[in-house]
Amino acid sequence: MKIKLISVMIVLISGLAGNASGIESLRGMKPLDGSSGKVEVKKVPKDGDLIQRNYVQQPPLIPHKIDGYQINLDFNKCMTCHSWSRYKETGATKISQTHFKDRNGVDLATVSARRYFCTQCHVPQANAKPLVENTFKPVEAISR
Ligand code: HEC
Ligand code: HEC
Repeated sequence: MKIKLISVMIVLISGLAGNASGIESLRGMKPLDGSSGKVEVKKVPKDGDLIQRNYVQQPPLIPHKIDGYQINLDFNKCMTCHSWSRYKETGATKISQTHFKDRNGVDLATVSARRYFCTQCHVPQANAKPLVENTFKPVEAISR
């Protein structure tokens, strides 16, 4: 009985200490079994100019909407505009040559499996404020 009481007290005290430290999740202090409150729907711009890259080797951000663009085993919507055979007529940037190399550096005739799911690396942007501050700066000698 005594041991039980002591452990309950330890849990209580450490719980209090946690709150006092001011640590809070991005969800706020809302209980997990309730709703987190109203979520603001973010707007992705329909079509825009190319977005400047922040560092060398950054996958360029997508400057257009991609709602409903499917990428599956049989079909890759992105390639209908970004492939080397289509980019001229669609005005899209042609897919990078690096995307045709397999992991051993061997050149392939089709997009490498490592690069097939475009949205693994390329993402559109929305009118969202950053959740946390970011003070990243690229290496000056190799940035434009
Ligand atoms: C209907 C044609 C079309 C489709 C489909 C399409 N894009 Fe695009 N994309 C474009 C065009 C056109 C541009 C260039 C916009 C400009 O120059 O302002 C572009 C630009 C981009 C860029 C910027 C390239 C750079 O150098 O900054 C990325 C990344 C991109 N698209 C990725 C994707 C991905 C990923 C998908 C699939 C989810 C996709 N696009 C589907 C037409 C398309
Ligand atoms: C594993 C991450 C990854 C995946 C998956 C991926 N990319 Fe990229 N992509 C990059 C990176 C990194 C760059 C910039 C460096 C380079 O060109 O390799 C890039 C560059 C590009 C560019 C710009 C080329 C240029 O000349 O400036 C386009 C367009 C592009 N990718 C389209 C696509 C499309 C379409 C797909 C899907 C079929 C795709 N990418 C899948 C990482 C990825």
